[in-house]
Amino acid sequence: MALPEEELLRIDDMATLERVVKGCTRCRLRAGCRGVVFGDGNPRARVMLIGEGPGADEDRLGRPFVGRAGQLLDRILAACGFERQRHVYIANIVKCRPPGNRTPTPDERAACLPNLRAQMRLVNPVIVVLLGSTALQALIDPAARITRARGRWIEKDGVWYMPTYHPAALLRNPSLKREAWHDFKLVIDKYRELVDPDHYSPHHPPTAMREAAPAAEAASRAEPGTGAMPAPGQGLAGTPEPGAGPGGL
Ligand code: URA
Repeated sequence: MALPEEELLRIDDMATLERVVKGCTRCRLRAGCRGVVFGDGNPRARVMLIGEGPGADEDRLGRPFVGRAGQLLDRILAACGFERQRHVYIANIVKCRPPGNRTPTPDERAACLPNLRAQMRLVNPVIVVLLGSTALQALIDPAARITRARGRWIEKDGVWYMPTYHPAALLRNPSLKREAWHDFKLVIDKYRELVDPDHYSPHHPPTAMREAAPAAEAASRAEPGTGAMPAPGQGLAGTPEPGAGPGGL
């Protein structure tokens, strides 16, 4: 059973919305997956991250971004100083795994959008990170290209959207990590501007601190992984990764 969008938008707590969305049969995807992957994180977070749809691991475990792409996303969040259960709320454009991890079709995205809109209304984020072209196209512009749109803020109805590459794209092409880290640094800056001026990121100190302590920063660069800004190519786990960006992604 699927409620009409007006009724979904009247639900005013996340637990009830989750129960209702778990009974959704708006499209054919529900018949081919184990279960609905609703969302994860803090429903009161000011930052929301939106991916494409669950993969095999997410379908099995019932939580978004828990496979390899999710592990990379967790490392990116840690570099930003964001904890999954505290600073962000994570959801997908479609909540049921498309067979064989194919990209969800436009009608599947459209069918699931009321569920996401209801979730976004409850979280009421000020910053939304769009992970990949499916999220960008479903929420901003069906003709948009992630390669062109990434790294630039889109303000819509008082919400700041940052399109960036999907973590799965970063796994396929590690040379994109440099641009992705650039985009996440903009997210950290915006978070400091709009939410918490004192927000701590281990890899992106506030501008004032970077300007006040250039010598300390230079020293931290010289000793990879120990300072505020790890050296280019240094992975977050301390293992150099091919093509890793300056954030150590
Ligand atoms: N990719 C996504 O877009 N979402 C997930 O939850 C996992 C992988």
